[in-house]
Amino acid sequence: MQIEFPASRPSGDYALVIPALGSNRPAAAALSAANVDAALRAQRFDGDSGSTAEVFADDGGTVRRIVFVGAGGGSTPPEAAEKIGGGAIAKLLTSGETHVVIDLSGLNFDADAAARVALSASLRAWRYDRYRTKLKDKQKPTVAKVTIVGGGEGAKARWDDRWSAVAEGASLTRELVTEPANIIYPETFVERVRAAAEGTGLEVEALDGAAMAKLGMGALLGVAQGSVRDARLLVLRWNGGAEGETPVAFVGKGVTFDTGGISIKPAAGMEAMKWDMGGAGGVAGAMLALAKRKAKANIVAICGLVENMPDGNAQRPGDVVTSMSGQTIEVINTDAEGRLVLADAITYVQRTYKPKTIIDFATLTGAILISLGHEYAGLFSPDDGLANKLTKAGATSGDKLWRMPLGEPFDRLIDSPIADMKNVGPREGGSITAAQFIKRFVDDGVAWAHVDMAGKAWADKASDTYDKGATGFAVRLLDQFVADNLER
Ligand code: BES
Ligand code: MN
Ligand code: ZN
Repeated sequence: MQIEFPASRPSGDYALVIPALGSNRPAAAALSAANVDAALRAQRFDGDSGSTAEVFADDGGTVRRIVFVGAGGGSTPPEAAEKIGGGAIAKLLTSGETHVVIDLSGLNFDADAAARVALSASLRAWRYDRYRTKLKDKQKPTVAKVTIVGGGEGAKARWDDRWSAVAEGASLTRELVTEPANIIYPETFVERVRAAAEGTGLEVEALDGAAMAKLGMGALLGVAQGSVRDARLLVLRWNGGAEGETPVAFVGKGVTFDTGGISIKPAAGMEAMKWDMGGAGGVAGAMLALAKRKAKANIVAICGLVENMPDGNAQRPGDVVTSMSGQTIEVINTDAEGRLVLADAITYVQRTYKPKTIIDFATLTGAILISLGHEYAGLFSPDDGLANKLTKAGATSGDKLWRMPLGEPFDRLIDSPIADMKNVGPREGGSITAAQFIKRFVDDGVAWAHVDMAGKAWADKASDTYDKGATGFAVRLLDQFVADNLER
């Protein structure tokens, strides 16, 4: 989608979008007011967040489709920006209109807020029609261009330098998350990321199963051993910061399909487990965004990529595996596989890059959905400073986090009679014991945070920035975290 920020409204054919912050809709002033006001009243349009109304009215001699998008009276410019861009596209994407002009005049949006209108429009327009060969014309997107006028000076620069990169990163994430598991598996995940990273300066490397076996990654490889797809450890490096400065590490769970293994999942809904690589997808998309916008920070990202399958060679409940850290794990439940993957990925990044900060992302537990639903991802960290920074970045970016507890009494629940630990605790507090498990692999002195995003990678209902499906979670969060904390 083409995005432009000219100084004033263009001429020609387009649909005009007029934002309404409650009853405040300054761009409507230029229209022949009487009949427009009557039409809005007839549709009971009040400018509330999420409301829209449509009129066909005379606009300087041509009859034009005019869409009013409500963003609520009390919203701040960044909040309103998200609702305006997303709301406009949700309404018009398949409307037949090819050009959409959004007029922000009179709303006092600065350059950043205006560019964020473009971001949410671009995010909301994303869809993946690769396998839909029989789409009717009426179902196909028509909007090819969005023009934003009336924002602060410098909106185009803000879009070019920051938000367009974030949109591209989120697209990669959503593509990886959306693709089925016969298409995206460890090897092809790496290939997709490599292709996207081409020419950006993002360094891409990958270890295969044999290389990981040499390193002693028994926890990750135990999960992979039931699959005919070889595992991969994807390493992405972005060095935009001070030379030689140790990188911050991001780690993602990349289970390209999670059947549960021998502790097999019920059939109903199992297809959702194609997106059990949402953490890895989010981290990879964030790295692409950071590279594309040339972030002034050093970052290394590790994606632990495996497929969890039941098979004659699959690991069994009760098996004991030795992780790269040397710690042994009794695998009580082969469906608690994400933590096994993360354990070795975290040890690898610590041994190789000595990061002082590690943030991991994983669609780790169904229990986090019971706790937080689909509104927040769960944030676990013993480090108050890091937790606060992430919570703040979550609130600013829209990828919201809610902090959960950790503690010794939870840790005791994963002691094993035969090994150093077991991979599951009791049902109660399942997201917390999962986090405690990961914590056992984090070295002393490392600031660590874990984000359980099982409720956030995929959405069953549309929002301002996505339609049903892959959300792109973690891309905006990490971009914001880096901007706020590492680029000063
Ligand atoms: N990938 C699942 C978690 C999940 C569930 C993600 C629902 C998204 C939606 C994870 O590997 C898993 O199976 N977790 C188990 C852990 C249990 C066996 C301790 C779970 O949550 O049931
Ligand atoms: Mn599982
Ligand atoms: Zn899983």
